[in-house]
Amino acid sequence: MMPRKYIRKKPERTYTAEDLQNAVADVATNNLTYRQASALYGVPVSNIFNRIKGRQIPEGKLGSGRKYMAEDGRIIPENYGARPSISPVYKITGAPTAEIVEVPAAQMDEVPAVHTVEIRPATPSAPIHCLRSVHGASLSTGGSKMDACNLKTENVVPAEPSKCTWHKEADPTNSPHTKKPLRPLKKIHANALETVGRTPIIRLNKIPQSYGIKCEVLVKCEYFNPGGSVKDRIAVRMIDDAEALGKIKPGATIIEPSSGNTGIGLAMVCAIKGYKCVVVMPEKMSQEKVDTLEALGAKVVRTPTDQGSYSRNSTFLVSHKLQEETPNSIILNQYKNASNPLAHYDTTAAEIYEQCDGKIDMVVGGSGTGGTISGIARRMKEINPSCKIVCVDPVGSILARPDTLNVNRGQFWEVEGIGYDFVPTTLDRSVIDEWIKISDQESMPMAKRLVREEGLLCGGSSGAHVAAAMKAAAKLEAGQRCVIILPDSIRNYLSKFVSDAWMEVRHLQPCVNSMNYWWWENKVSKLTLDPPISILGSVSCRKTLNLLRKLGINEIPVCEENGKFLGIAMLAELFNKFMARKIKPDTHISNALRTKFIKIKPDATLGVVSKALHIDGFVVLMEDNEEGEEQFAGLITIGDLLQYIM
Ligand SMILES: Cc1ncc(COP(=O)(O)O)c(C=O)c1O
Repeated sequence: MMPRKYIRKKPERTYTAEDLQNAVADVATNNLTYRQASALYGVPVSNIFNRIKGRQIPEGKLGSGRKYMAEDGRIIPENYGARPSISPVYKITGAPTAEIVEVPAAQMDEVPAVHTVEIRPATPSAPIHCLRSVHGASLSTGGSKMDACNLKTENVVPAEPSKCTWHKEADPTNSPHTKKPLRPLKKIHANALETVGRTPIIRLNKIPQSYGIKCEVLVKCEYFNPGGSVKDRIAVRMIDDAEALGKIKPGATIIEPSSGNTGIGLAMVCAIKGYKCVVVMPEKMSQEKVDTLEALGAKVVRTPTDQGSYSRNSTFLVSHKLQEETPNSIILNQYKNASNPLAHYDTTAAEIYEQCDGKIDMVVGGSGTGGTISGIARRMKEINPSCKIVCVDPVGSILARPDTLNVNRGQFWEVEGIGYDFVPTTLDRSVIDEWIKISDQESMPMAKRLVREEGLLCGGSSGAHVAAAMKAAAKLEAGQRCVIILPDSIRNYLSKFVSDAWMEVRHLQPCVNSMNYWWWENKVSKLTLDPPISILGSVSCRKTLNLLRKLGINEIPVCEENGKFLGIAMLAELFNKFMARKIKPDTHISNALRTKFIKIKPDATLGVVSKALHIDGFVVLMEDNEEGEEQFAGLITIGDLLQYIM
């Protein structure tokens, strides 16, 4: 097939004087490169450059030679950026420029980032910011104006519509959906990568029966993959395809935004093939995933969970920044890479069909990137069109259709790997027949039941999938068959849902007073707590250390001058950051805070507090102020509780 030609259009840009100022500040402080600042704030690189160099901008023109004028039609005068009295919104006028980009036929599915063919002017759905909360309550977002400026980041967040041309009657000789035969079973494998796929399907014998489900319920156990998850399939496929296209050179660094499992799959491939690997992963994801990644030789970069995909600290923007700074590096980008759904079309779906001898009435899975469910669904639509495809979406996420299902948008959810605040390119919602919203209260206990009752050592999203299947499969009759995807392994969550204390503190299972303690049901308000003392974020690390030593304490709250709570300064955190050369003695303590901790409300019971103190040496007490916003009210330590109960 001849390469097709695409027009790359640069749309009209609009930006404010504040955007320019922010862009200049971020570049000047090395927070962002010129290109990133330009993409984020919508300000041309040349203008940022000129401002940083203190150059005057000729009347009516900017560095690029294009004409600029204020919204009200005035030509922008010289050094406009330095004069705040000027109307703050400026617009590029004149015809948008266009350039021709050749896209090889082999990449006609989802066209990779380097071949962006069109910059979509439409605004994607509003960004969602999630704050961590023990109770899973919806919290205020605190998102900055820049965070909410999603137009500026849309060329980095992989949410553009797919260019995939798949349809049910496509000719396999002329399509990347080639219908290749499955890999043969071997006695001895050359390396771990050869064992990816061909995972077992196992019947559930207790859980469906307890719901009165009449049909047969089977689970496809993706945690049997060598890296422990369904994502091994796409890791192998994305690297193989990129190598075949000559996009990965020897010694390359693979950088990937991931909720962990794709990172583990890629790190495994990199370990075997000799590439370097950097995984950019939100703070929400478990420490076990970090440990596995590091054991595989990958570098892990953590990003805040609470700022949303369109913030400049999101996994996507951070990955792009790293890629620009790292020579010979590539982001395979599972969120828009055609090899992701293709891996599942070619293998996962074909295996299910073969293992079930074609008799499948329903498939239930979830959507992170959507690659698994979209790849399986497309193949099923071709070979077994009557098979119903059900997709699970956590409460708080916005992927489900119709959109009215997406209540409590932005609420934090614990289950890892599924749900997003944008619709990934690789998710094809047209092939999903039904969406089911599932809460942590349903997912996590179900994951525990799968382990305890069915002996299946799976992860939290498996619980979400099975919980949804128990609703969807209730409509199937005896003799029909439902297949559920179990994406990953218990290994990732030993410190999370596997721990009863972790579940109890989050109200995901009852907090049982098995030792009959007299104080168990008493409320936190019974404790005598020291009045909360805190320090300012601008205090140096050295001074904080001196203070902690002087007071004989290990942790102290840190606030802004206006009283806004920033986090906890801790000896352990200071030690870790200092040893990693991330802070110096005169660094502000605001750069060395622990921001991930257990929060509780004054109406929590001491039973719950005792469980929380088993996990961490302190808990943070938060109260609602008159506006209903959460505010810091104090720390509760093991000493405080012991004082009361002993
Ligand atoms: C645990 C877990 N479950 C489910 C999924 C969803 O897979 P997909 O990205 O193919 O939609 C992922 C993806 O990262 C995952 O990590």
